[in-house]
Amino acid sequence: MGSRSCANSSCHGGADEKSRQVVLWSQHDVHSRAYATLTTARAARMAEALEIPDATTSARCTTCHAPVQTVPPALRTADAHVTEGVSCASCHGPADTWLRSHTRPDFTHADRVAAGMRELRDLYHRANACVACHQTIEPELTGTGRHPPLRFELDGQTQSQPKHWAEPAGRSGAQAWFVGQAVALREMSWALASGAADLARETPRWQAALWLLQRARPAGADAALVNFSSDARPASFTAARQIADAVAQEAARTWSAADTRPALVRLANTHAEFSDTQISALAHACRAERLVLALDRLIAASPAGEVPPAASAQLDRLFRLVQSQPDFAPAGFARELAGFAALLGP
Ligand code: HEC
Ligand code: HEC
Ligand code: HEC
Repeated sequence: MGSRSCANSSCHGGADEKSRQVVLWSQHDVHSRAYATLTTARAARMAEALEIPDATTSARCTTCHAPVQTVPPALRTADAHVTEGVSCASCHGPADTWLRSHTRPDFTHADRVAAGMRELRDLYHRANACVACHQTIEPELTGTGRHPPLRFELDGQTQSQPKHWAEPAGRSGAQAWFVGQAVALREMSWALASGAADLARETPRWQAALWLLQRARPAGADAALVNFSSDARPASFTAARQIADAVAQEAARTWSAADTRPALVRLANTHAEFSDTQISALAHACRAERLVLALDRLIAASPAGEVPPAASAQLDRLFRLVQSQPDFAPAGFARELAGFAALLGP
């Protein structure tokens, strides 16, 4: 079903706060333009480099940019146009089982989910929905002049998507961040274990993601994660996949706003680890890159006034130091990170 089936003005196509979902999506959400992206000159150049005859009809592009196209025509309603990009059903699930019942006034969220609507409120399930298009991409599609690499980050990407819903009160961005990091690690582990990722390129990134999650974990979290060794054997990828999934599920249930500050402080105090000469400069660069993005999200999720402005200014300096992987200097980064930790306080 296409978005037009949702767009009746008394349903989701109205102008007021409660029914503006179609307006918000079609006017402000890039997902509604994901198909149009495949018609651009940039997409045509990518397709040419990959010897794909037509990006707008190749399943290698449309699985993410125009998912309606992956549905056999016989199963599409007349409203479902391949040009609609990532539309309502791409995230909320095909509506045939719940279209009628979901408007019942006595139906709760749980009833709708039981009828087949996709669970998106719980952050673990939401992360699973988004990560499907936002992390793993065929290695061959990426590279110079090709597709940008994809990096899943649930908190930042949730903030960037124009919201056509209200989040539960008091939900912490840090929780979305942590759940998203665990789900990203799970997907990276899966891709490495199954040959869906370039081993040489992705292994250092996987190790950095694991390193970060181990240090950010809320107190009392899964011991299996903390004690896990990140040697890059195939068996480790498989084991990490299971551990990361369990950690994501647990954090979606138990992370509270009070876990944010300890995570921020623990990550800031990893500075001594950047003096470890047993680890390659590339590995340090991958850790640092992921670390500064993490600090940024955790600061954004901290209560106003808790993080001094000088620490935010110091974070800008850290961002500049991770701009270029080949030029990354671990010792200088360690020094500036120690400065950041001192500004943050205990
Ligand atoms: C069916 C695939 C698909 C799903 C599911 C999906 N996205 Fe996307 N998303 C895309 C594509 C494709 C683009 C690029 C759109 C463009 O510019 O053409 C995109 C772009 C974005 C962007 C803007 C670019 C960026 O990365 O900052 C954000 C933010 C985003 N998505 C967030 C989300 C969130 C949050 C979810 C889960 C609730 C989600 N997406 C689910 C395919 C998907
Ligand atoms: C695994 C899902 C996925 C697949 C497959 C995919 N894309 Fe994308 N694409 C995305 C997402 C997500 C973004 C947004 C990335 C961002 O902004 O960080 C994007 C962004 C783009 C952009 C804008 C990027 C830029 O740098 O301007 C173009 C163009 C594009 N995709 C074309 C293609 C083409 C052509 C194909 C097939 C060869 C393809 N995509 C396959 C998910 C996908
Ligand atoms: C990229 C993914 C994505 C797309 C595309 C999308 N949604 Fe959503 N939608 C979400 C997420 C995430 C939520 C929050 C879920 C929650 O908290 O229950 C949501 C929430 C909603 C809600 C509120 C549910 C509630 O119980 O409060 C409605 C209604 C809705 N979407 C309708 C639509 C319609 C109509 C479209 C198409 C025009 C659409 N959505 C497209 C991800 C998406």
